[in-house]
Parts: sequence; C-alpha cells; structure tokens
Amino acid sequence: MHCTLFQSWQIFDFEELGSTNSFLKQEAELDLDKIVVNTPVQTQGRGRMGRSWLSQTGLDLTFSIQMDLSPIPAQNWSLSSLVAGLALSDYLQSKSVDHQIKWPNDLASQNRKLCGILCETTQKNGKYFVIVGIGINVNSPASTYEIPHPGAISLSEITQTPWDLHQTLLEFLPFFERRFEQLLQGDIESICLAIEPRLLGMGKEVLWHPTLDHPGTRVRISGLALDGQLLAQGPEGTVCIQSGELSWKDLLD
Ligand code: BTN
Repeated sequence: MHCTLFQSWQIFDFEELGSTNSFLKQEAELDLDKIVVNTPVQTQGRGRMGRSWLSQTGLDLTFSIQMDLSPIPAQNWSLSSLVAGLALSDYLQSKSVDHQIKWPNDLASQNRKLCGILCETTQKNGKYFVIVGIGINVNSPASTYEIPHPGAISLSEITQTPWDLHQTLLEFLPFFERRFEQLLQGDIESICLAIEPRLLGMGKEVLWHPTLDHPGTRVRISGLALDGQLLAQGPEGTVCIQSGELSWKDLLD
C-alpha cells in the first residue's frame, strides 16, 4: 500500500483489493474525512442491488471516497450519489466527453454504461461517513464488458485514445470537492438544476411502473425533486418516481 497527499485528500493506493468500498467499511480506525482508496485490481467489486462490478486489471478505475457526513442534515445524505454523478459529469464535460446522467446512479454514453456509483453510509467511532464507490470504464475494450454488463462503453472507446488512470483520478477529485461543498452548504437547488439538463431521457416519455405488477403508465420526465427523486408528468399530473420503478428499456421517444 502506498499513501500520498494530494491537495486536501489522502489517497491510499493498493496493488489489489477485494472491494474498495468493503475495505473502507471494514477499517474502523480510518475515521477521517476526504480519504480515497484506489486499486487497479478489484477482485470482488460490488454494484448496486447485490450485483457485482467487473473491471479489467489495470485498465479501469475503481476507487472509493470517504466523506464525513456530520455537517450534513441526514435527509440529504442520500443525495451523495447524485452529487458524485454530477461531479463525474462535470469532469467529463471538461474533457468534452459526450455523456448523460442516467438517474439515479450511472453515467451513460451512446446509451451504454460508462460509470457506476455505489454509495454506502457507515458509522465509525460515533461519526457517520458516506463511502462513495466509483467504477469508471476507462481503457477496456467494449467486448470485455459484454458478460455480465451488456451495453457498456469506456472512455478510450469514446475518445479513441488511452487515458492515464491516476491522472484521471487526480483531475476528478477537485470536481467532486466542489459539488460536495454544495451539498455541505445545503445548496440542493443548484445541484438539481445542474443535473436536470444532463439527465438521460429528460423531456422524453417512459413507462412508469409504480408497483411490480403494474403494466406501466406513460409519463414524461420533467426534472428532479429536492430529495433526488425523478419527477415526471403523467395523465394525472406530476409523479415522483423512485429508483426501480422505471425501466430504461421503456424510453419511448
Ligand atoms: C453499480 O453500477 O451498480 C455501481 C457500481 C460501483 C462500482 C464501484 S468500483 C469501486 C467501488 N468498490 C466496489 O466494490 N464498488 C464500487
């Protein structure tokens, strides 16, 4: 393991780890703000909803950021993953990489998955932290993702040039810091306003399934509520969509 200081960040680089999120969760004595755990080889990467996250040895970015949640009201903690997605989007914009924010947790390009985010809250020595796990498909060729992630894409595929992993991480961190500061300040409106025009499907019709067996109602995506839920206009007015109630395969126009 190798530890470096970069601006106000403490970065721990490991040759190999099971999961950067799991590592930070397990290390109770690492109870500091602004810690980054990074590895080029993640052998048991975890995704949302119990899924696994596959990355290619030395080709992709897999890292986790630990932030102190104490200054943030608990009702805003769940916005951490939107903030991380927005910061990634800011970074990609700065590099002129065409992409959309795929609510609630992904970044997509050409309708294929580019980045995944897994946020977990944890308590260490009486303090609450969020662990923001980020996987970015950086240099892998598309074919390596087909199983089990059909429809993935990498930065190098989009830009037709290889990316330096460590430089990408270091360049991203200030973007993350800026957006997390808005969360600390309680400036949720600015966060939502910035995300809305970058949302995949913004202004488009999707099928919304409020319950598992519901056949689906046509609604038009119209923005984000201040609690991070997706807003859409349906036949009976505005509806709030929870994660899991919308299938992106149902994007209608
Ligand atoms: C998802 O799309 O389901 C979220 C994927 C999150 C993957 C990242 S890679 C770094 C961090 N460590 C993990 O085990 N998972 C996250």
